[in-house]
Amino acid sequence: MRAIHVSDPGRDYSLTLVEEPRPAPLHGQVLIQVAAAGLNNADLLQARGLYPPPPGASKLLGLEVSGTVAALGEGVFGFAAGDGVCALLAGGGYADYALADAGSVLPVPAGVDLIEAAGLPEGLFTAWTNIVDTGRLQTGETLLVHGGTSGIGSLAIQMFAARGNRVFTTAGSDEKCDAARGLGAARAINYRTEDFVAAVKDETGGKGVDVILDMVGGDYIQRNIDAAAIGGRIVNIAYQDGFKAQVNFTPVLTKRLTLAATTLRARSQSEKQAIRDALAAQVWPLVGTRIKPVIAAGFPLEQAQKAHQFMAKGGHIGKILLKTA
Ligand SMILES: NC(=O)c1ccc[n+]([C@@H]2O[C@H](COP(=O)([O-])OP(=O)(O)OC[C@H]3O[C@@H](n4cnc5c(N)ncnc54)[C@H](OP(=O)(O)O)[C@@H]3O)[C@@H](O)[C@H]2O)c1
Repeated sequence: MRAIHVSDPGRDYSLTLVEEPRPAPLHGQVLIQVAAAGLNNADLLQARGLYPPPPGASKLLGLEVSGTVAALGEGVFGFAAGDGVCALLAGGGYADYALADAGSVLPVPAGVDLIEAAGLPEGLFTAWTNIVDTGRLQTGETLLVHGGTSGIGSLAIQMFAARGNRVFTTAGSDEKCDAARGLGAARAINYRTEDFVAAVKDETGGKGVDVILDMVGGDYIQRNIDAAAIGGRIVNIAYQDGFKAQVNFTPVLTKRLTLAATTLRARSQSEKQAIRDALAAQVWPLVGTRIKPVIAAGFPLEQAQKAHQFMAKGGHIGKILLKTA
C-alpha cells in the first residue's frame, strides 16, 4: 500500500510517498481501506519531531480516517466488510489502509459523504470529552469556544448549538466570524479587533460564561479566568500562545473556578471507547443533519506536504483532508 513517511523530522521536514506492507488486523481491530484522512495540528507537530506517537501506535502520521471496512480482527462485532466508517486513530491514517481499534470506529451516517466523514472523529471526540466529561457543560449553560473555525471549533460550535447551548466563539477575521455564525454561534468575536472578555460579559448580562474550551493559552489564561462565570470551568486542549503566564488567581478562588487541561491521543482504548459510545448515543443522531463536517480543502495523498503547508498558513475554515483516490 502507499503511505506517507516523514523524512528529516524537524523544522524542515519533508513528506514522501513510499510503498509498505498492508497491516493485518489483530484481535479487536478493524482494517479500514482509507478514503480520506483528516489533518490535525498534531500531525505538523509530530513531523517537526515535537509530538512522538504514544507507545504501540503506528509511526505514520494521521489521527482520523474515513473509508470502508476491509477486514475484521477476531472479537470484532457490529461491523462488516464494506461498511462505510470513520475512526479515531492513535496514528497511521496517512496511508491506503489503516488499523483502528473497534471501540474508536463509528458508522458514516446518512447525509455525510464518505470522504468528508474523515473530518469528524478527532473534532467530535475532542470537543465532547473536554466540554462534557471535563467541562461538565449542562443544559442551559453558555459555552465559549476559542478558534471557532478550527477543525475542532467548527464541530464544537455545531454540536453544542444543536444541543441547545448558547455558544460564543473567537476567530481571527470577519470572514471566519461569519462562517462561525453560520455554524450556529450566537456571537462570533473577531479577536483581532474585539475583546472577548467584554463581549461575553455583554452577552451574559455581566455574569460571564459557564464553560470555556481554549486552545490558545498565553494571555488567554488570565482573560479566560476573567470571562468565566461563578463556578465556571476552563478546559485547555492546547497552549498555542504559550504554556507560561503570570496569572492573578484571586478570581479562581472567589468565583470557585475549575481549570483543567487534557490530551486525547494517549488515553487508554477503554476511555476512547467510552467517548465513542457517548457520541454514538447522544451526537450521532444529529450528524448529517444538524452537524456536518466543514471541509476547507482536500489534497491527494501524495500531496501531503502541500496539505501541511496549507494548514501551517492558517487561513483555512474547517478541516483539511488527504484523499487516497
Ligand atoms: N488536547 C487534545 O486532545 C487536542 C486534540 C485535538 C486538537 N488539539 C489542539 O487543538 C488546536 C486546534 O486543532 P486543529 O487541528 O483544529 O487546528 P487548526 O484547524 O489549525 O486550528 C488552530 C486554531 O487556533 C486558532 N487561534 C490561534 N490563535 C488564536 C487566538 N489568539 N484566539 C483565538 N483563536 C486562535 C486559529 O484561529 P484563526 O485562524 O482564526 O486565527 C485556528 O482556528 C490545536 O492547537 C491542536 O493541537 C488538542
